[in-house]
Amino acid sequence: MLSKDAITNLLKAVKDVGGSGDIVTNDRIQDVEIENGKVKLTLFLATRDRDEKYRIEDACFDILNNLEGVEDVQVVTTGPQVVPGSKESQPAQPPKGESPLDYRAPIPGVKNIIAVASGKGGVGKSTICVNLALALRERGARVGLLDADIYGPSLHILLGVHDQPKPGIKKEIAPVLHSGLKLMSLGFLTNVDTPVIWRGPMVAGVVKKFLQDVEWGDLDYLMIDLPPGTGDAQLTLVQTVPITGAIIVTTPSEIALVDAEKGLKMFEHVDAPVLGIIENMSTFVCPHCGDKTDIFASDGGKRISAKTSAALLGQIPLDPEVRAGGDKGRPTLRSDIDSPISKAFLEVADKIMERFPVEAR
Ligand SMILES: Nc1ncnc2c1ncn2[C@@H]1O[C@H](COP(=O)(O)OP(=O)(O)OP(=O)(O)O)[C@@H](O)[C@H]1O
Ligand SMILES: [Mg+2]
Repeated sequence: MLSKDAITNLLKAVKDVGGSGDIVTNDRIQDVEIENGKVKLTLFLATRDRDEKYRIEDACFDILNNLEGVEDVQVVTTGPQVVPGSKESQPAQPPKGESPLDYRAPIPGVKNIIAVASGKGGVGKSTICVNLALALRERGARVGLLDADIYGPSLHILLGVHDQPKPGIKKEIAPVLHSGLKLMSLGFLTNVDTPVIWRGPMVAGVVKKFLQDVEWGDLDYLMIDLPPGTGDAQLTLVQTVPITGAIIVTTPSEIALVDAEKGLKMFEHVDAPVLGIIENMSTFVCPHCGDKTDIFASDGGKRISAKTSAALLGQIPLDPEVRAGGDKGRPTLRSDIDSPISKAFLEVADKIMERFPVEAR
């Protein structure tokens, strides 16, 4: 039998901010609600240190999620560092009619599935997928991250994850919990040095497995990082689940724009909505003199948005810190929440949450 006391007792295993004492003894548990196998834990953490916040949240989630009889876990943190939207501030639900086609089966518990795609490789899809997922999480959403780039999975590297997925309780595979996100990637399962040669049906099999056999639980957004182009992974995704929409990433250069338009058309062709375009590696601001240089030309995202009538969701500057953060496994949104890059990602997250609101928590 699940009880408040039993749960509180177990949470004594979680060290408090800074490692001195545990979260129960230090009075960090604000509330424990148990209803029909659903557990909602509310913590009060007076810290602005996100590493600590996420460490504590993840540890609590892990403990509760592994309890027998628990169907769903929500860990909510209140305190000076969290700015969840209030119910009143949430805009109305998006108009009906955008609902996906009937033959695709939704993933139970997952409210929105957002694919991050591009026509051309190396334009920053994975970087954007990770930072956007962290930005949505920062705004209080429950977020999953699926690396569907089975040819070159990179999300585990960008996030610096060294754990392995474990067998799930209700489904075959439990995603890895990291930075407050639920992450699944083929990168966990394959050897970095061994290239995997994939045939179309194998690609389809893995993508379907990740969608259907991973214990995603209740999520507001499942972000999916796709390989470049318009191949088997993209098609399997849009044919297996009803995606809420795709975000097309492009650099501002003409050559990238041609490919971006192809990507856009592919999603339109299979009746999957395109949420908009993100222009990445736009203007470079010299950290020494402040001069602006358009290394990959300028405003290409705006031009393609005007041409195709897909919304321009954001323009992310070119910044060496983004590359360095990716190499170190420290995405910008975690290392410097106040940077212009992080702000640009938070603005995109706000636009997504405005269009596809989640319940205030
Ligand atoms: N705004 C940016 N400023 C500086 N570097 C960036 C930016 N966005 C991405 N990068 C860097 O560009 C490289 C490619 O980015 P990323 O791997 O995210 O692209 P991708 O589109 O996912 O590539 P692929 O098509 O191979 O999957 C990485 O080294 C990344 O750190
Ligand atoms: Mg990638």
